[in-house]
Amino acid sequence: MSTYKPIDAQDIHYFQSLLNERCIVDHEVRSDYGHDETEDITIVPDVVLKPETTAEVSEIMRYCNAHSIVVTPSGARTGLSGGAIPVFGGAALSMERFNKILSIDERNHQVITEPGVITQVLQDAVREKGLFYPPDPASKGSCFIGGNVSENSGGPKAVKYGVTKDFVLNLEVVLPNGEIIWTGANVLKNATGYNLTQLIVGSEGTLAIITKIVLRLIPHPTHDLLMLVPFFDAEKACEAVAAIFRAGITPSGLEFMERDALTWTQAFTGDTSIPVKDNHQAHLLIEVDGFDPEQLMGECEKIMGVLENFETDEILFAESEAQKAGLWALRRKVGEAVKSQSIYKEEDTVVPRYELPALLSAVKRICRQYGLHSVCYGHAGDGNLHVNIIKGDLTDEQWETDLPVAIRALFTEVVALGGTLSGEHGIGLVQQPYMDIAFPEITLQLMRQIKDVFDPKGILNPGKIFTKVTAN
Ligand code: LAC
Ligand code: ZN
Repeated sequence: MSTYKPIDAQDIHYFQSLLNERCIVDHEVRSDYGHDETEDITIVPDVVLKPETTAEVSEIMRYCNAHSIVVTPSGARTGLSGGAIPVFGGAALSMERFNKILSIDERNHQVITEPGVITQVLQDAVREKGLFYPPDPASKGSCFIGGNVSENSGGPKAVKYGVTKDFVLNLEVVLPNGEIIWTGANVLKNATGYNLTQLIVGSEGTLAIITKIVLRLIPHPTHDLLMLVPFFDAEKACEAVAAIFRAGITPSGLEFMERDALTWTQAFTGDTSIPVKDNHQAHLLIEVDGFDPEQLMGECEKIMGVLENFETDEILFAESEAQKAGLWALRRKVGEAVKSQSIYKEEDTVVPRYELPALLSAVKRICRQYGLHSVCYGHAGDGNLHVNIIKGDLTDEQWETDLPVAIRALFTEVVALGGTLSGEHGIGLVQQPYMDIAFPEITLQLMRQIKDVFDPKGILNPGKIFTKVTAN
């Protein structure tokens, strides 16, 4: 148990005087802020606060720090590791009012945005100027850019363009004590002191509240080609991935879906336009993009040449923009489709790309050993495999006792392959029991010390990343 101060009537009075109706105590509303998209976990905060200026965030943090009140930053609550779940109650600090794109700097290819802008809205706004912000998590139509920065989100385009961290140049943040700072400068190169910007990126709302984000942009590619490749053997599909890169091609998307991932999603969406034959064990969805259609055709031919060595069935080339959109929509719905089937647990394993076949084989072996059913899909080009373990007919006891042991065995193999626990979903609440597999105690200690420097009272999003809670 923590020694955080429960929120009392005096605190509510203070928050109301600061925010008026943007301080919410209604239970139904608060319940919504008690969960994200992680499994079926809900822990309701005592109050929901919706500031709309950096000054208000600063005031809230100053007050909460002085009174040892827990604050959990909250975005669109699409996270998959429980980062936004207010484990210790307290205040959920919703950043949804920070929903403005402040400026698009076409001369420097940069955008300054507030954190509560939906990622897709940001992408569309810069696209109108011919510019491209590539990171595109599956939830891009609803997630917030601030959440993407906090979790260092990826998505299919990461394989060619990089993840969120590769685009963040500078951040305005409010520290737990209410101080407001900029972490860096709006420049492409920066060798000036410690890289606080990148320390905040991926810190899962445990170090500071992000109030402004400066992102770099690139020219938007004008053309892309998309193909869907059926394989008779799932491990062979994984082997083909590294071979494509070794042939000198960097696709702008290289996604893996094993059989169940695709067929379950077809059943979920009702889109059965792709024929999945009985002997198709997995598919690769491969996209190339750029500015020269002929070059892209050449790249596709090279990819097909590589695939000849991997026993594929007939390759489907998307013939229209609508068909491309349909294939991507199907891929983006896999997570939701699996969720709709059963209670499940999602792991976000990542290994060096060449080890992907070994990872898939380890997943299947361990799941067989523990009597678990897994559905795998994900960003194969990044060696990032989402492993969904399905509860199905297992008893609650089997699920609660066998599953953590199996996950521990899986992560141990992942790390032995040179990989780590999460590629893009974060550690948050649900993966922290496994952090000792990724890091020795000395490294974890260093991370806890960093946390203590930013947040000595441990009021900001406690119970995440580390099992230790720093309460005074
Ligand atoms: C995806 C999410 C789950 O790749 O990361 O669909
Ligand atoms: Zn993903």
